[in-house]
Amino acid sequence: MAERWNTGLRWSDVTPRAAFLDRRRFLATAGLGIGTLAFAGIAGAKIAATPSPYSTDEAPNSLEDITGYNNFYEFGFDKSDPARHAGAMTTAPWSVRVEGLVDRPGDYAPDDLLKGIALEERIYRFRCVEAWSMVIPWIGVPLASVLARVGVQPGARYVRFESLARADEMPGVAAGLLDFPYREGLRIDEAMHPLTLLATGLYGEAMPKQNGAPIRLVVPWKYGFKSAKSLVKISLTNEQPVSTWQMLQPKEYGFYANVNPEVDHPRWSQASERRIGGGLFAKRVDTLKFNGYGDLVAGLYAGQDLAVDY
Ligand code: MTE
Repeated sequence: MAERWNTGLRWSDVTPRAAFLDRRRFLATAGLGIGTLAFAGIAGAKIAATPSPYSTDEAPNSLEDITGYNNFYEFGFDKSDPARHAGAMTTAPWSVRVEGLVDRPGDYAPDDLLKGIALEERIYRFRCVEAWSMVIPWIGVPLASVLARVGVQPGARYVRFESLARADEMPGVAAGLLDFPYREGLRIDEAMHPLTLLATGLYGEAMPKQNGAPIRLVVPWKYGFKSAKSLVKISLTNEQPVSTWQMLQPKEYGFYANVNPEVDHPRWSQASERRIGGGLFAKRVDTLKFNGYGDLVAGLYAGQDLAVDY
């Protein structure tokens, strides 16, 4: 299957801004705009963001799907739990601790971390390890730009991410559903890759709480669990971090977690996926290696056996 986006894309190849705005207008007319946004707990202020040539031209899922069908175990196991419970999470003030092998460690408000870095709109495919997928119009900045701001030291080989864990605002944390705080990690070259985003919004608005407000990771060529939400800590280390899912089931969830139809999960196939939003008769689509971003990222893994480094 031809990959439609790569670094060679021209602006005219990506979803035109006007078409995107039309869809937004449609959502508003359909009554899904303001109501759902208020429900999602976001202020409704439009965010100016530059369209990115890395965007797919596939149609984004509806805001309703993106904010109503979530994994955010801090709020419960059910896909509807995050929308139901995330409203209780306090996201202002917020601070992200940047620590480890960096020149300028400290506690940063998200605005200070991103100040002066142009916000981009990136329409990415997002493939969950559970074999469903969506297309999401994120707003964010390359993680690399933020890492450059804090000054990565030469010894740093990995980045470790940690999410908020606040039992009094998060029923899944109170119930101990997982070993919280939720933790993830990337190799430094993965973290510096231009596709890797720190996202602060979607669909032109600030990040809905159930999607990881106020700031989250988005790594589009990896299974969704790598994209940790509601980040409170970013650590630069020389040791490979152990992620929450690896700790829980090391045979099922590896450190790399690159989308790979050739390597099945021990309990299910990864060869195809169900696109959320298609209703009862939605057809399954073939899963693409690296979620289709192979042109851009396969080189990161030259010489690695991805069945071993799963
Ligand atoms: N981050 C935290 N902190 N807690 C979580 O439970 N779930 C992950 C990931 N990030 C999760 C998380 C999983 S399994 C997926 S598929 C995506 O978030 C879902 O992101 P979305 O709800 O915005 O689509």
